[in-house]
Amino acid sequence: MGARLSLRAVAKTFGTGPSAVHAVGPADLTVPAGGFVSLVGPSGCGKSTLMLMIAGLEPPSAGEITVNDEPVTGPRTDIGIMFQDNTLVPWRTVRGNIELNLELRGLDPRAYADRIDDLIRKTHLTGFEHRRPYELSGGMQQRAAFCQALVHEPQTALLDEPLGKLDAMTRELIRGDLQALWLTSRPTVVFVTHSIEEAVQLSTTVCVITPRPGRIERVIDIDLPWPRDRAVKRSRAFGDQVAEIQEIFHAYGVL
Ligand SMILES: Nc1ncnc2c1ncn2[C@@H]1O[C@H](COP(=O)(O)OP(=O)(O)O)[C@@H](O)[C@H]1O
Ligand SMILES: [Mg+2]
Repeated sequence: MGARLSLRAVAKTFGTGPSAVHAVGPADLTVPAGGFVSLVGPSGCGKSTLMLMIAGLEPPSAGEITVNDEPVTGPRTDIGIMFQDNTLVPWRTVRGNIELNLELRGLDPRAYADRIDDLIRKTHLTGFEHRRPYELSGGMQQRAAFCQALVHEPQTALLDEPLGKLDAMTRELIRGDLQALWLTSRPTVVFVTHSIEEAVQLSTTVCVITPRPGRIERVIDIDLPWPRDRAVKRSRAFGDQVAEIQEIFHAYGVL
């Protein structure tokens, strides 16, 4: 089960004086253990900055972030991170790339062999584990990157537009895999997407972020059954939920 995250009055300003950019906040958010929270908002509203602060890679200018009630004061090694551009290295195979994340953490890949097999199966990469990234489609590369980010069973996963560069059909398929992975082990996930539909399908909670400086304008609990398969997506309740969030952005002039 995942970690509990809390942001209290977190703000970020880059630079000082007249050229300062007030990027985020103040933002308040509590993510319960095992929650799947999506941050949805226009480009440049501070979503990636929020992720970097939660990861401990960028210090907040004000406020406090805690993970299981412990303040985040520096880079956290107990999380899995994935960005739009994956971090696969070209000279390693799929399996070798997954193992790389373990090696960097000083963990023995042999102890994780079953876990890796399981991830490869669940992300439909069976038969490709000995291929190198350039031999894979973009979608397969992102699947491999999911395995890489999650192999050490992190309590928290920060996924910043991991599906952003994929075509719609591939995106739909990988969403299903991501949901299945999350439902199996319930890490706490913070997920950034531009797609309201994607956020509603995957999340326990959707956070609507305002244009810069990004504030968390609305926190909407998504009360739809799991798994959120095609039948759920076709339901009236799903459509209503998507429309409600679209209206909020419309009011901001974003849509
Ligand atoms: N290291 C940085 N230095 C200065 N400004 C930055 C830096 N990182 C981000 N910003 C600015 O902060 C704002 C939010 O950026 P970002 O968090 O990347 O937004 P998003 O991920 O929502 O598109 C933008 O205006 C961006 O230009
Ligand atoms: Mg971003």
